[in-house]
Amino acid sequence: MASCTEGNRPAYNRSDLSLTWKANLVKRLKTVVTRAVGIARKMPAAVRVACAKTDKKRWLRVSKEIPHWDERNAIIGTLVPEDVSVVDLGAGAQTLRRHLKRSCTYQPCDIIQSSKDVIYCDFNRKRYPVLPRKYDYVVCSGVFEYIRDPSHFISQIHSYGDVIIFTYNPYRPGASKIERLACGWLNHLTERQMGELFTKQRLVWQVLHRKTTTKDVDELIYELRPIQPRLNQRFRDANE
Ligand SMILES: C[S@@+](CC[C@H](N)C(=O)[O-])C[C@H]1O[C@@H](n2cnc3c(N)ncnc32)[C@H](O)[C@@H]1O
Repeated sequence: MASCTEGNRPAYNRSDLSLTWKANLVKRLKTVVTRAVGIARKMPAAVRVACAKTDKKRWLRVSKEIPHWDERNAIIGTLVPEDVSVVDLGAGAQTLRRHLKRSCTYQPCDIIQSSKDVIYCDFNRKRYPVLPRKYDYVVCSGVFEYIRDPSHFISQIHSYGDVIIFTYNPYRPGASKIERLACGWLNHLTERQMGELFTKQRLVWQVLHRKTTTKDVDELIYELRPIQPRLNQRFRDANE
């Protein structure tokens, strides 16, 4: 006797269907396994980063060469007007200096003292630079990812100047934190959490530039300004 479903059989061949299904499954499995192997390979680096304070050897190298990400500093150079004072937190090889207009003054700060004028700081040991003045612009280019306590960092830096130019690669939900750690990135805030952090610190913010890389990571350049200009406590203390 014929079953009641016989008349509804699809027009395609069953073996074709199972082949496509198997091929898809194998393809998916391959992707999952490749990703898992990639992440497992990065695990030792991620653990090292998570346990260590700051990778000074890496930063010493960075301080000596023109970085492959210098385009970001070139863009920041276009965002800073003429005749202003700039403090660069995490200055690296100080390439920003040459992207600024000639009439600007430039003060580098970093954990690596690559030149005499660098003011020492170590944000992960809560050693924030003691600055001689307040600046028009505070630049944090490619440094925030390496900070263990992001809220504390933000709470400190806005006393250094009126406008902050700030870059960050926000965490995309679903992305691997191990891969971020393997890059040395110590925090994983989403774009939304960044906005909340700025608002909590009474900063108004806007995204001035967004770069999507091949890895599907966005690097954002923000401009931050205090909601109400505050008197710089350090500057006031130094001058009283
Ligand atoms: C990716 S590099 C960016 C350098 C430069 N801003 C640029 O865009 O070319 C990160 C910089 O942050 C500095 N840095 C990293 N961790 C730091 C810390 N805990 N305290 C102070 N500076 C730090 C490094 O020495 C390095 O110069």
